[in-house]
Amino acid sequence: MFMKKVKAEVISSKMIEKDIYDLCLNYEGAKDAKPGQFVGVFPESDAHLLMRPISICSFDDKTLRLVYRVVGFGTDEFSKLKEGDSIEILGNLGNGFDVDLCKGKTVVLMGGGIGIPPMLGLAKTLKDKGITDDVHAFLGYRDKNTFLDKEFEEVCNVHLASDNGEIGFHGNVVDALKSSGIKADVIMACGPMPMLKGIKYYAEGENIDAYISLEERMACGVGACLGCVVKTTKEDHHSHVNNARICTDGPVFDARDVDI
Ligand SMILES: Cc1cc2nc3c(=O)[nH]c(=O)nc-3n(C[C@H](O)[C@H](O)[C@H](O)COP(=O)(O)OP(=O)(O)OC[C@H]3O[C@@H](n4cnc5c(N)ncnc54)[C@H](O)[C@@H]3O)c2cc1C
Ligand code: FES
Repeated sequence: MFMKKVKAEVISSKMIEKDIYDLCLNYEGAKDAKPGQFVGVFPESDAHLLMRPISICSFDDKTLRLVYRVVGFGTDEFSKLKEGDSIEILGNLGNGFDVDLCKGKTVVLMGGGIGIPPMLGLAKTLKDKGITDDVHAFLGYRDKNTFLDKEFEEVCNVHLASDNGEIGFHGNVVDALKSSGIKADVIMACGPMPMLKGIKYYAEGENIDAYISLEERMACGVGACLGCVVKTTKEDHHSHVNNARICTDGPVFDARDVDI
């Protein structure tokens, strides 16, 4: 398993939608990456030593692609990176999605906002490894300013939803799935907490296996600070508490196992 702090060279960096950036890096850990894992990206400034967790959007043997929204100091600094610059990366972090759970099944991938990028790597892996060809991606955006949806179309069936109804289904991705009539065997998802709660509730009601990636705030990223704990429905047999660390036990959890 690849896990260390290394310098990665910027191959390209571009804005693909308002405040959404697409960063490609030459990164030695790319060949060991799994969809749903993330990396810690370090801003250069000494005043901000904490890594910023960003999900792996896609990867091949040598390159890693990250797609992120500019929301504050760190992501604003990353948005100024140019071809040939280098940046420190800690990775690969977290467990990722277990693609073997999808073998021969009807799989529904759900992404909301900046939770959409990791679902693209997952959709590509399901296709490239021939795990299943019955994959539907439900992608939820704020409005008509979509991103990455054309790339999903190359590898699976795509269903769009938007908060304001400007594009696709008017409403959230759970309601879009319900109205589509598609019966999922497995759901895999990443997005804001209200969306993940809705998926957990829906999947439990319909008895569907659901795996959700929790992208809450983090500090160390390696299990040391307990800054990212989530309540679990089962007791941890080491610590005897109902807690899990999102950075090391997750970020992907069986939706039944977390109390969100
Ligand atoms: C496992 C994981 C994977 C992630 N993957 C992605 C990704 O692929 N693309 C992407 O754009 N973002 C992703 N994020 C969120 C990303 O880490 C934060 O947006 C980033 O750290 C913000 O850094 P900043 O210095 O720009 O903002 P800060 O200056 O630190 O914060 C600016 C604002 O953003 C809010 N914020 C910061 N982090 C988060 C967070 N995790 N969730 C919600 N609000 C936050 C702060 O409360 C504040 O209001 C991920 C987070 C986690 C934990
Ligand atoms: S971020 Fe430190 S334990 Fe998870």
